[in-house]
Amino acid sequence: MRRSITRSVTRSGRERSALDAAYEECRRLVRSTRPTEYALMQLMPPAVRPACWALYAALAAADDLVDSTEGTPQERARRLEQWRAALESDLSSGTSDDPVRRALTDAVWHWGLDLGDLLASLDAVGRDEGREGVATWQEWRERAHAQNVSWPEQLMRMLVRSGLPVPVRLRDLPGFTRFVDGLFLTDMLRDLPEDLDAGQVWFPAEVLDRFHVTPAELLSREWTPAVRGLVAHLAGQAREWLENSRRALRNTLPLGPAIVLDSAVELFGAELDAIVRAGSAVLHRPVRVPRHVEWRILGPARARAAVVWRLTLPPGDSPERTAAGARAGTTPSADGAPDAPAPALADGTVPGTTRIAEPPLPPRPHRDGVRPPAIPEAHLPRHVAIVMDGNGRWATGLGLPRDEGHRAGAVALRDVVQGALEIGLAHLTVYAFSTENWKRSPDEVSKLFAIMRAELLDGELLDHDVRLRWVGSPDGLPEDVVEVLRAQEHATRHRTGLTFNVCVNYGGRAELARAGAALARAAVAGEVDPARVSEQLFAAHLPHHALPDVDLLWRTSGEIRTSNFLPWHAHYAELHFTDDPWPEVDRRDLWEAVVAYTHRKRRKGAASVPTSADRAE
Ligand code: FPP
Repeated sequence: MRRSITRSVTRSGRERSALDAAYEECRRLVRSTRPTEYALMQLMPPAVRPACWALYAALAAADDLVDSTEGTPQERARRLEQWRAALESDLSSGTSDDPVRRALTDAVWHWGLDLGDLLASLDAVGRDEGREGVATWQEWRERAHAQNVSWPEQLMRMLVRSGLPVPVRLRDLPGFTRFVDGLFLTDMLRDLPEDLDAGQVWFPAEVLDRFHVTPAELLSREWTPAVRGLVAHLAGQAREWLENSRRALRNTLPLGPAIVLDSAVELFGAELDAIVRAGSAVLHRPVRVPRHVEWRILGPARARAAVVWRLTLPPGDSPERTAAGARAGTTPSADGAPDAPAPALADGTVPGTTRIAEPPLPPRPHRDGVRPPAIPEAHLPRHVAIVMDGNGRWATGLGLPRDEGHRAGAVALRDVVQGALEIGLAHLTVYAFSTENWKRSPDEVSKLFAIMRAELLDGELLDHDVRLRWVGSPDGLPEDVVEVLRAQEHATRHRTGLTFNVCVNYGGRAELARAGAALARAAVAGEVDPARVSEQLFAAHLPHHALPDVDLLWRTSGEIRTSNFLPWHAHYAELHFTDDPWPEVDRRDLWEAVVAYTHRKRRKGAASVPTSADRAE
């Protein structure tokens, strides 16, 4: 969906409290009608919970309009259509008289949610109206995915906006759609009494036939051996899907979302147990998981989630941040108030490929309001290169898996890029994956690539005036990583602010060997006279010959070596070593490094320091 919106979101106190009341209404609604989902939402970071309630309340409102027993199917379809049209108009105006739509509108604006996807899933709910059930599992699955996949993806989008690099396109992850199948089937068993009240049977005809159960038999609520067999089979099927998908997803999701996933599988599993134990009651009234079982699952999950969010999200993830416009990456309007971000993909780009803000946003200020030092342009290093070291040790020291260190490292990198933009740095190069890093476990490597992809696709880095350049070799890299690097290089090629070089699958000696080989080939072809090979000619044969010389090379985490990083370009770099591990670094450390650089005497072999005119040259 293409939508271009600019709107000031300064709010009066009255508007603010009406909005709070709207979110509160959503919270009450979800809590009373969907206690399991509500409990799972409470495992999310506090700042994103209100938007979770709004999303779920909206889905439930649409569902209720369809499932209600009032009026003819045509009338119900019309009511849903009206509700959806009202939502669209609310989304354009930015507010609503209806509390659920009001909260949803705010959530969409505030978190940059994908409107097109959300409306498409509401349309899928609407398509159920007047439909006579489904014939096959395949058809059932299409219905499940069309209605449900978008919602958890919006939650991931909010986590990304909160500073946690996670994959947003959950549907691309192995096991995710099976997980949705498991949830949907559990939900369907739980909603059985309501669906039967509405005269609807949504299990595929193929499974009813297999158990010799007719829709009429189910609607009559007779607890025959065949119906019992069917319910037991469906509960077993849902459990198997949930468990299998948990195994597949566990490896791809970071710790925070993985806790929510684990708890969802266990809570829904407990519901399935309760459904099987309930016997014929499952046809007559909603089945509830006993409180003590819920507590056994949720108690430890809450404690773990609170610790994990604290460690893995950048500070500032508090409920106050839900105030519109307070999130990172918003654009200041003329009166200084931040404008809401346009919903993601407002430019019509294809999700999962490129998402580039045009025009780019100005740098996001530091959360503590610190301002950059004033350094005259002529004194700035032109090119700063960083070995972002210490992610693994940082995570291990906190008892977290190593990939959590890379995730936190990506958050630190975001801030450092903001700081580079604020001081007007021309080139920043970071060592994100060296050719030596292949020696790490395949699990760590694949998680690190997933973090980079998510960061480049959905993080804030490229929301700003940043031109991405990839330095390294495609040999052995996963295709999807190469694709993202190339796509984002292409998409940002006209940017003129900071050139941000990411070294992925880069090795310094390999780069020199490639230049040597290219020169040798040119000599054999008679294009180069070996006697005339100069430094300039050699540099021109480097695979990344556009990269300027490094002025300042900074390495974190206490190691005092350069580790095969840019040996050609950093031949005369000032070296700067600091002790903190990379995840604990922010833009202030970059500024300190740059200020320290300005005090160095760069004689470059001469007796005196070159003048600013020499430097600018
Ligand atoms: C070194 O720490 C760090 C890395 C190998 C990866 C750094 C990558 C990121 C911060 C993500 C980058 C994202 C983009 C978009 C470029 P280490 O694991 O070697 O730490 P250790 O020495 O403590 O083991």
